[in-house]
Amino acid sequence: MERTLVLIKPDAVQRGLTGDIISRLERTGLKIVAMKMLHMDEALAQRHYSVHRGKAFFDDLVSFITSGPIVAFALQGNNAVEITRKLMGVTDPAKATSGTIRGDFGIDIGHNLVHGSDSLETASSEIGLFFSPEEIVSYDRSLDVWIY
Ligand code: RTP
Ligand code: MG
Repeated sequence: MERTLVLIKPDAVQRGLTGDIISRLERTGLKIVAMKMLHMDEALAQRHYSVHRGKAFFDDLVSFITSGPIVAFALQGNNAVEITRKLMGVTDPAKATSGTIRGDFGIDIGHNLVHGSDSLETASSEIGLFFSPEEIVSYDRSLDVWIY
């Protein structure tokens, strides 16, 4: 079963979009298996976005993601990575289609509200950055027979 990491970024938390974003993702049928609010420090931000180190936008990205509290959670289910990315919309909100989180709520590429892991490999390492193994909760849902 796939897992993916979602971050509700500081702009979305400040704008009161936390509940809406969780709700949109939860309604897919994906299962929340871990969740916390935290304020990322610079070290965590640099590790989380290490693939972008050296790019022109890296410093702005680190300062943005550390500018306020975020909500981190892990979603589990078939195709969790792809389904989450589809609901988020493409990176630039100006290009994201209506019905996606970024398309509906965003304007600016630097304030795009939400993060989702882009592959199974990155999901696994990103979940490990934010959650210890004991913080991943294993449970059954009776409604899963209506999802799968
Ligand atoms: P994220 O990692 O935050 O989920 O976003 P993403 O996969 O859709 O986009 P990615 O390429 O990983 O870029 C990470 C974040 O960097 C900012 N960015 N700015 N100015 C630019 O050209 C530019 N490109 C990327 C965005 O805020 C993006 O979410
Ligand atoms: Mg990315």
